[in-house]
Amino acid sequence: MGLPTTIAIDGPAASGKSTLGVLLAQALGYLYFDTGVMYRALTLAALQRGLNVHDEAAIGALAETVHIDVGPPSVEDGRDCDVFLDGQDVTWEIRSDAVNSFVSDVSVYAAVRKAMTDQQRRIAYANKVVVVGRDIGSVVIPDADLKIYLDASAEVRAQRRYQEMINRGEAADYEAVLRSLKNRDQIDSTREIAPLKVVEDAVVINSDDLGIEEVLEKAKELVYRV
Ligand code: DC
Repeated sequence: MGLPTTIAIDGPAASGKSTLGVLLAQALGYLYFDTGVMYRALTLAALQRGLNVHDEAAIGALAETVHIDVGPPSVEDGRDCDVFLDGQDVTWEIRSDAVNSFVSDVSVYAAVRKAMTDQQRRIAYANKVVVVGRDIGSVVIPDADLKIYLDASAEVRAQRRYQEMINRGEAADYEAVLRSLKNRDQIDSTREIAPLKVVEDAVVINSDDLGIEEVLEKAKELVYRV
């Protein structure tokens, strides 16, 4: 059997999925596809239009009309991919505090999940890909050749996120970061549709005591073993 061509990486916020996804895709020459950016771009679109994120009908309708494009990085400014919202480059805007605060709320709606999942499947099935998200192995690509669930404790994830902010020269409060992560974990894992969960055929990697190089090594072992 050849190498897996569709690789799903799921896990909670700030577990290191994106970093692992980027490195694994680079190592294999695959497309890196972070599905979280689509929910983020939709949340930004809602905020830009002044919509109430708790208005399910309005957000659902927006999800069906808004055009989100994701592709390989075209600018060397530290980005992992390009994200376009109706033709506008929003790669960095989707990382704002406002988007962080509301993206989990926007992600629970049925119409949102359907619109995003349809688009994600189109991209995933047309390429050799490493797809990163919350519901990739469970819903988006249930027949993925390899499913990895990357986990870490909330405290370790908060510490890493906090350190990233400090390194970028941003003001950061560890307790606030921890609270925000726990809140997103709660919403992401208890929502009715496509909650974050470990599927039976996923391999769990816990990165509490592992650096990214060690996590990457483990993932590569899995790739070459499939
Ligand atoms: O991975 P991230 O932090 O960029 O994801 C942002 C939000 O998007 C996250 O809180 C939940 C949602 N999301 C999702 O529901 N399903 C996915 N496949 C990816 C992200």
